[in-house]
Amino acid sequence: MNTADYNTFCEYLKSLNIYNFNIDEDRFSSVKIINIRPSLNSNITKLSKNLDQIGFFFGSIEKPILRNDFEKGCYKIEIRCGEMQSKSFGSFSSGSGEIPLKIGLDKYGKEISVDLMEMPNLMIGGTPGSGKSTLLHSIILSVLESDSIIYLCDPKVVELSRYSHIKKINSISSCTEELSVQLDLIESILESRFNLLRKNRCLDIKEYRRKISKDMMYNVLIIDEWSTFAINKSNIPDRIANIAQKGRAAGISIIIATQRPSAKIFPGIIKASFSGKIAMRTSSAAESRIIIDRGGAEKLSAKGAGILVSPQHNSEIIFRSPWIDDISAIIKERYPKNWYSLFGF
Ligand SMILES: Nc1ncnc2c1ncn2[C@@H]1O[C@H](COP(=O)(O)OP(=O)(O)O)[C@@H](O)[C@H]1O
Ligand SMILES: [Mg+2]
Repeated sequence: MNTADYNTFCEYLKSLNIYNFNIDEDRFSSVKIINIRPSLNSNITKLSKNLDQIGFFFGSIEKPILRNDFEKGCYKIEIRCGEMQSKSFGSFSSGSGEIPLKIGLDKYGKEISVDLMEMPNLMIGGTPGSGKSTLLHSIILSVLESDSIIYLCDPKVVELSRYSHIKKINSISSCTEELSVQLDLIESILESRFNLLRKNRCLDIKEYRRKISKDMMYNVLIIDEWSTFAINKSNIPDRIANIAQKGRAAGISIIIATQRPSAKIFPGIIKASFSGKIAMRTSSAAESRIIIDRGGAEKLSAKGAGILVSPQHNSEIIFRSPWIDDISAIIKERYPKNWYSLFGF
């Protein structure tokens, strides 16, 4: 609600002799509650007949509900506001930075894009059906638009295999052994890059790309269903944490997503080096706290809605991810199967 609407709303209540009220601004839910403590001459009857008008001030299309709390001697108006807007991936602008990720629209309908290299590691959690895979697709499509090589890991195989023919996709793994091979490669790239940077007196990949050569591409590892690898007794979590800690200068980023956020899945060593955090709808406030260190994600109602915490923003951002109608169609259109053979690669 903007200030002008808010002022008109206050004037309207005053015209009914209602002076004592407050609005419960629950930023995570789409329901707003107005608590009213009436005085003797407050015109509650007129208020109850004009609830549509109250809804209108808040941009709600549904009629608000008026409840009388006899015990407390006050009234409550419940207003169900519209769902957060969303728009299709294709209609987002490209964003700025080294690897701009199209995260979605905020509650004012403004495009939210974050530079992955500024994070540079991101963890995502949320219940099944909350919209993680859809968000991951728009993240992968965003990374594909940048100067990056991508490593995918997907134990469910089907979801990410559609990207397999694209040249910028280095490999797609689906089990601990295959992920381990990807990590071997990433670790060796990390070491050789540190040497190369040192030799060329460059602080980081940004400087190297500016001064020496753009041949040094960013490397992004994206793991869906992270819990598969976090709970078995492998050394994967330690290796991931190690790469995440050191990767920034060498231009290596990791993104992990899980539907089972718990202290076991996101242990301290992982959380410490993943400064980008996204909570889609969680099943409890406790799960929300595990991901973003605060509750709220359990109240998100719209599909694809999430809360982003990143070092680039002072406070958390509530967003709705881009919707993607038919991911296979987008991939086919942007990356036709014969794309690289056409160019003789
Ligand atoms: N931003 C969005 N806008 C509209 N619908 C969405 C959005 N994100 C996800 N959905 C829908 O929600 C459903 C579940 O999404 P999905 O990404 O498969 O969730 P998850 O991977 O968390 O189980 C899908 O039908 C998807 O189309
Ligand atoms: Mg999924």
